[in-house]
Amino acid sequence: MSSHIESTLVENRVFKPAKAFASKARIKSMAQYKKMWNESIKNPEKFFAREAKELTWQKPWKKVLDWKVPYAKWFVGGQLNVSENCLDRHLDGPRRTKAAIMWEGEPGEKRVLTYQQLHREVCRFANVLKRNGVKRGHRIIIYMPMVPEAAIAMLACTRIGAIHSVVFGGFSAESIKDRALDSGATLIITADGSYRRGTIVPLKKNVDDALKSGETAVKRVIVFRRTAAEIHIEEGRDVWWHRELEYVDAKCPAAALDSETPLFILYTSGSTGKPKGILHTTGGYLLHAHMTCKYVFDLRDEDVYWCTADVGWVTGHSYMVYGPLAMGATTLMYEGAPNWPENDRFWRIIEDYGVTVFYTAPTAIRAFMKWGDQWVTKHNLSSLRLLGTVGEVINPEAWMWYHRTIGGGRCPIVDTWWQTETGGMMITPIPGATPTKPGTATLPFFGVDAAIVDDKGKELGANQGGKLVIRKPWPGMLRGIWGDKARYKQTYWSEFKGMYFAGDGARRDKDGYFWIVGRIDDVLNVAGHRLGTSEVESALVSHPSVAEAAVVGKPDELKGQAVVCFVTVKSGITTSKDLAAVLKKHVRTVIGPVATPDEIRFTDALPKTRSGKIMRRLLKQVAAGELVTGDTTTLDDLSVLAKLATAED
Ligand code: WTA
Repeated sequence: MSSHIESTLVENRVFKPAKAFASKARIKSMAQYKKMWNESIKNPEKFFAREAKELTWQKPWKKVLDWKVPYAKWFVGGQLNVSENCLDRHLDGPRRTKAAIMWEGEPGEKRVLTYQQLHREVCRFANVLKRNGVKRGHRIIIYMPMVPEAAIAMLACTRIGAIHSVVFGGFSAESIKDRALDSGATLIITADGSYRRGTIVPLKKNVDDALKSGETAVKRVIVFRRTAAEIHIEEGRDVWWHRELEYVDAKCPAAALDSETPLFILYTSGSTGKPKGILHTTGGYLLHAHMTCKYVFDLRDEDVYWCTADVGWVTGHSYMVYGPLAMGATTLMYEGAPNWPENDRFWRIIEDYGVTVFYTAPTAIRAFMKWGDQWVTKHNLSSLRLLGTVGEVINPEAWMWYHRTIGGGRCPIVDTWWQTETGGMMITPIPGATPTKPGTATLPFFGVDAAIVDDKGKELGANQGGKLVIRKPWPGMLRGIWGDKARYKQTYWSEFKGMYFAGDGARRDKDGYFWIVGRIDDVLNVAGHRLGTSEVESALVSHPSVAEAAVVGKPDELKGQAVVCFVTVKSGITTSKDLAAVLKKHVRTVIGPVATPDEIRFTDALPKTRSGKIMRRLLKQVAAGELVTGDTTTLDDLSVLAKLATAED
């Protein structure tokens, strides 16, 4: 077997980077990582200025950082364009004819776009946007399948300074409407459908439903033809992508944009209210995506890099599109499900394309483990050199399986902790340097001053569980919540003075490694997707039979967390299995399939404190089938608990 396994200190489950990997890596040792990290913390302006010089600037910045807690401005006075950095600057040398995007559709079609071709398509589509009235600062919703045109649409927006907001294809009409209303979007880019497990997801129909009430500001819908499914075309509002491209100029200058120009809004769940529009801006975000691809994936010109995330999530933004393209890498994009037509689709793709760097989610890894090794071993995965995970805690068993069965014991694993809000990776191993331990995201990335604090904000010692905070600004950090200045400050910066509170609980071990426990706010992590319990609750109470609902997570072997809903119905309504099924479907319709409840438990009452607050801690224990052992002295009516334990759908 490989030298990597031999060098492993199995008793401590510490995996040192293989020499063969480290010797070729940009960062080759812990000493080098520590030196760079110290500099990035002590002298961030110098450190990041040096890194930012690797991007292409139309105008140099005057000041690296302007920090007035909690508002950061990076590279003040500088101007650049994201699409220029991802495309134009690669056209001068051999990358011009290199594959930028390699794509495979679920039914099996293959397409390759070179940097030159991608550049041309982006310029043409940017001109289409202009012709359709799009100007700087306009908000554009992208509700697309995983096709190259999703990336083309994003890059075209950045070329002209329009702000995109990608909505995940698994979200409902109502979710599109909410996002269109909140962002004030004037144009939607969608497709006639997308393929998922052999069926067609009716994307355009969802857009039609979202716009039906006429409440949004959307005046134009551009429809990409993917499936040739029958769709409705609204005269005067809807136009076909391919028709718009006829007779369009292939030249479109990249707008010179101030570093702090809004780049995109991405909606994500929080503990209260509707999803919030996380705002990212141009220079700092691009730098963060670029730097992490460079140091964490150690991307090379010869790599075939594959991030399996959907473009609708932040991982798809930073690590399928912007980071790899800014690096001039080849990024692979697959449209469909991992188990279509069979359970080995991913391994087949890795073998076919010779994928070298592979980035996926623990929930997927757990599913692969369950499907069995036979699906993996029939493929040659020897092209792989580096593996990554993101989205949730990876359990050590899944880590070991990933390491042995997918990585052949040869590939370092980078378990990367970060959030929609952080823009890019924050806590992560550096693959040629950091000894890894299964289940920990290890140490902070450059410029990241992470700590574990108690409820008062005091830093905790080794192995003490507390709240994860970041104490310094970093280039990729969110700049706000779209349209809600107060909520930004309140959500992230009010818990502790001068610190960003991430919403996660964690501890550091004696080596300073961060072990993430999970969300400690009312946000669930279901199959790597963030879901606010309050969102599911408001979807439930929007049904006429429901009086009150409380939603909690329950540990789930595959999905990490399952969605359990405690529901009280209005008087006169009888509970039944049928009603439970109706409510599940209702939540699906309101939010989307990602939010489908796993269990509906009807109950006469919910456990509340005397002040009327629902006691979620108790509900979590009930959902998990644990005995209620916590402090129940503030519970209003103890008999509620006994009933809950037996509540069934
Ligand atoms: C969780 C995804 C443990 C965490 C990029 C965080 C993780 C939330 C990890 C953000 C990891 C993400 N280990 N937990 N490596 N990565 N998380 O915004 O709870 O969809 O707060 O961003 O996912 O989810 P989001």
